[in-house]
Amino acid sequence: MTNQTLLVLSGPNLNLLGERQPDVYGNETLADHLAVVEAAAADHGLEVEHLQSNHEGELVEAIHSARGRCAAIVINPGAFTHYAWAIHDALAAFDGPVVEVHLSNPASREPWRHTSVVAPVASGSIAGFGADGYRLAVQAAVALLGR
Ligand code: DQA
Repeated sequence: MTNQTLLVLSGPNLNLLGERQPDVYGNETLADHLAVVEAAAADHGLEVEHLQSNHEGELVEAIHSARGRCAAIVINPGAFTHYAWAIHDALAAFDGPVVEVHLSNPASREPWRHTSVVAPVASGSIAGFGADGYRLAVQAAVALLGR
């Protein structure tokens, strides 16, 4: 039986989307992004499991629990992107496609955002397309899964 689950992970402060710096991150809430993800995933027979956490270890444990169980991971690690090596290592131990997504384009922002420790273990990264990024991330995961 093939895995039917797409794990979507949201890092710190993303629970505040809609209120947090809307000029940078848009007016959509995390629930709005998830609705888009769920619709796009359902079109390809994938169910979505989602975790938002402000704690690195919880995200690491969610990645562990995806091993052998989830088809792919879409992750917006928030600020963990830039320094959370434990998330890097956990993703390296996941067999399926990993799509890194950012609402903003970190490469065009402060220098400390220019490094992603997640990018080297992601299949690819989508950044700077605002809310469209989540739909594009699901499409990328679906394409990588050959669905
Ligand atoms: C972000 C970019 C990160 O640099 C930042 O810390 C976030 C959000 C984005 O989606 O643009 O929290 O991941």
